[in-house]
Amino acid sequence: MTQKSTVSSDGVSVVGICGSLRPGSYSHSALRIALKGAQEAGAATKLIDLKEYQLIHCDGKEDESRYPEDVFRLRKEVHAAQGLILATPEYHGSFSGVLKNALDLMGFDEIEGKMIGLLGVSGGKMGALNALNGLRVVGRALHAWVIPEQTSIPEAWGVFDEEGNIKDADLKVRIMALGKQVARFSYLHSSEGAQEFLRAWEGAPLNPGGGTHD
Ligand SMILES: Cc1cc2nc3c(=O)[nH]c(=O)nc-3n(C[C@H](O)[C@H](O)[C@H](O)COP(=O)(O)O)c2cc1C
Repeated sequence: MTQKSTVSSDGVSVVGICGSLRPGSYSHSALRIALKGAQEAGAATKLIDLKEYQLIHCDGKEDESRYPEDVFRLRKEVHAAQGLILATPEYHGSFSGVLKNALDLMGFDEIEGKMIGLLGVSGGKMGALNALNGLRVVGRALHAWVIPEQTSIPEAWGVFDEEGNIKDADLKVRIMALGKQVARFSYLHSSEGAQEFLRAWEGAPLNPGGGTHD
């Protein structure tokens, strides 16, 4: 039985970006599960499969006039969400280049202030921790709120069946919990109470209580 959420995230939207282009990708299968968790917590969800986007290599964004329409579609979809889940394979001790390029094609406009949850898969036993640590740094650079919860799935080739269904029920619950947390924190972060706190925080003096010492 799924546990009933005490905080409903109604009205919040969570977008998942899949950082693998491989047909039958385990990142994709895991991301679908995380988004189901977000949905159960009340969020509207969308999975962005980068295979379906005609993107360009980021060239510094100085002249975007020749950028394909899908760059702007990607930006618009991410901009509209309050929460993001980034799913990636571990590639040579980091996250995938395709995901980095997609992030490089975006910036503060799309990502600043968003809640981010991280999900990684690996072929080896060590899991996707290097990929997730790398993404955490990228999230910080974009001024996003990368939640502490994250899920790394080692030896992903043994975790899903041929249809992409997960075989381990406990792991499924953990992946769904990641999606639920992203939805709930996105909701809390966009609530009026949180916004009021942030306004007060931004307006607060740099050193409250500190005076000058003569
Ligand atoms: C270019 C490349 C580099 C990889 N590097 C690693 C690695 O450093 N560590 C590891 O455990 N697996 C590595 N793998 C295996 C992938 O993490 C594994 O196949 C994973 O399932 C791919 O993700 P996907 O199923 O979402 O496509 C690598 C695979 C490729 C194609």
